[in-house]
Amino acid sequence: MTPFSRITGTGSFLPPRRVTNDDLARDLAQRGIETSDQWIIERTGIRARHFADPEVTSSDLGLEAAKRALEAAGRSAGDVDLIIVATSTPDMVFPSSAAILQNKLGIAGCPAFDVQAVCSGFVYALTVADAMIRTGSAKCALVVGAEVFSRILDFNDRTTCVLFGDGAGAVVLEASAEPGILASDLHADGKHVGILCVPGHVSGGQVLGTPLLHMDGQAVFKLAVRVLEEAARTCLQKAGKVDTEIDWLIPHQANIRIMEGTARKLKLPLDKLVVTVNEHGNTSAASIPLALDEAVRGGKVKKGDMLMLEGVGGGFTWGAVLLNM
Ligand code: UT7
Repeated sequence: MTPFSRITGTGSFLPPRRVTNDDLARDLAQRGIETSDQWIIERTGIRARHFADPEVTSSDLGLEAAKRALEAAGRSAGDVDLIIVATSTPDMVFPSSAAILQNKLGIAGCPAFDVQAVCSGFVYALTVADAMIRTGSAKCALVVGAEVFSRILDFNDRTTCVLFGDGAGAVVLEASAEPGILASDLHADGKHVGILCVPGHVSGGQVLGTPLLHMDGQAVFKLAVRVLEEAARTCLQKAGKVDTEIDWLIPHQANIRIMEGTARKLKLPLDKLVVTVNEHGNTSAASIPLALDEAVRGGKVKKGDMLMLEGVGGGFTWGAVLLNM
């Protein structure tokens, strides 16, 4: 049995339609809702986001990201023996978007399932894949974060609809003799369900409750800043590492103020923080693998670098993964 798992390839995909803050402000103004590029940038750091066309699903976006990750890893779909998709906007109620993605990749037989941990979904999925590889259940896992959050946005609510976007990111995680994933730390606290949720559900052929995103932004903000530092510190402790050894911090991309606050708490200079929220908005479970792939392809993250990935979101869920590339 190989004792470790390691990322051998990354990939990502954004739907082509880029919507700037000004574009969105113009659309909202037609509904009598006021917002501005200035407010959105100052409060969040977001300048633009991508929205998928109505017929495009999470598994469609995930497929493109997965193909790019496989190519980067020098693997083909036939090598994959585990698929985990982190998503809160699955193609269907069931089956999982992972099973749908498996079929789109033209393979069959390997386990495929979704992980639902909202914006922490990717760090949850990566941790599960790492555990399955280390116990010998898989050798070559495809771990995907894919979202079409535009589907669940309430465009009459300016406090949330300006924040989110669509996209997908993927990694190939393989069994390795060299340490890749060094430590992870996952948490949930269900008493905070109400501060970030989509309360609608299917019953008797109808959607009951509101199938649109609701968020108490300030409550989420306060919790996020606290738990992100704790999870990162626990990971460092588990791996016997210190904060100054981190080469890149790749947090969930929700708000530049939260991300910079976390970097400061970890005493990291801001040039070690990978930022894509400006161009992607908050893509929930897709945001970390999207940012990772951009940092790899942009030449920032190099083989051997130590990365801290951190997610936080609905549930309330949070977690971190410390790894060597
Ligand atoms: O992905 C999961 C994790 N999610 C997060 O991490 C999100 C965490 N929360 C946040 O990022 C921030 O709380 C927000 C960006 C959502 C909001 O920023 P804020 O600084 O907490 O603003 P606020 O909610 O205190 O609102 C300030 C003002 C309010 O007006 P009044 O009451 O001061 O007159 C809002 O009504 O800004 C108003 N406002 C807006 N104005 C223009 C709220 N949304 C908008 C808008 N455009 N889009």
